Amino acid sequence: MRLAYPESELSTSEIRIRRWSYDDLACVAAASADPDIPKGTTVPARFTDEAGYAFIERQWSRNDDGQALAMAIAKADSNQAIGQIFLSLTRVERQCRLGYWIVPGERGRGLASTAVRLVSGWLLTATDVYRLVAEVHPDNAASIALLEGCGFTLEGTLRSWLWIDGQPHDALQYSLIRPDLVGE
Ligand SMILES: CC(C)(COP(=O)(O)OP(=O)(O)OC[C@H]1O[C@@H](n2cnc3c(N)ncnc32)[C@H](O)[C@@H]1OP(=O)(O)O)[C@@H](O)C(=O)NCCC(=O)NCCS
Repeated sequence: MRLAYPESELSTSEIRIRRWSYDDLACVAAASADPDIPKGTTVPARFTDEAGYAFIERQWSRNDDGQALAMAIAKADSNQAIGQIFLSLTRVERQCRLGYWIVPGERGRGLASTAVRLVSGWLLTATDVYRLVAEVHPDNAASIALLEGCGFTLEGTLRSWLWIDGQPHDALQYSLIRPDLVGE
């Protein structure tokens, strides 16, 4: 199966989920300045305009083979990008992995939760994806609260699943499946 950009844009009164644009360089710069985002993503740890544009181009190329989709989370009123939501198919049939980040200055307002609800609702009802999984570091309280608030179920601990700064870390695995949203 293949992932494609949603046919109609996913949006609320607060946010739009859209393709990355060369105009989004300030968002990449803000993400680079965060201590955590570059560790788990390909956001450059040291920002330059060139590295920022390369990041944006990489997000477009994620969908070249239909196996992943990287979209910007933008404010609905100004269209300013403030984060990213990332989906990638796995080797498990009809399963997708989820990743997301929001720049530090825009956190704590429910915007990541809104983005995850929008995208997971679309993915599990309008595409062939049946199971969405997310792995989170046990100390990432905000991400855990987000997943639980969006209806994800904790499945267990993946031991030594994450490598951060050359060290292994456990991860909590969460899932959301189609029946969680539409019933059996
Ligand atoms: C995780 C992240 C995306 C959350 O973004 P956000 O826009 O602040 O999230 P929301 O405002 O939707 O809040 C989600 C939940 O986290 C809670 N929360 C927010 N910051 C928190 C914190 N520092 N500690 C504990 N809980 C927190 C909120 O109260 C909310 O829970 P609630 O719905 O029960 O009130 C953001 O912190 C981030 O980008 N972190 C760095 C990258 C990252 O960790 N990505 C996820 C990898 S698995």
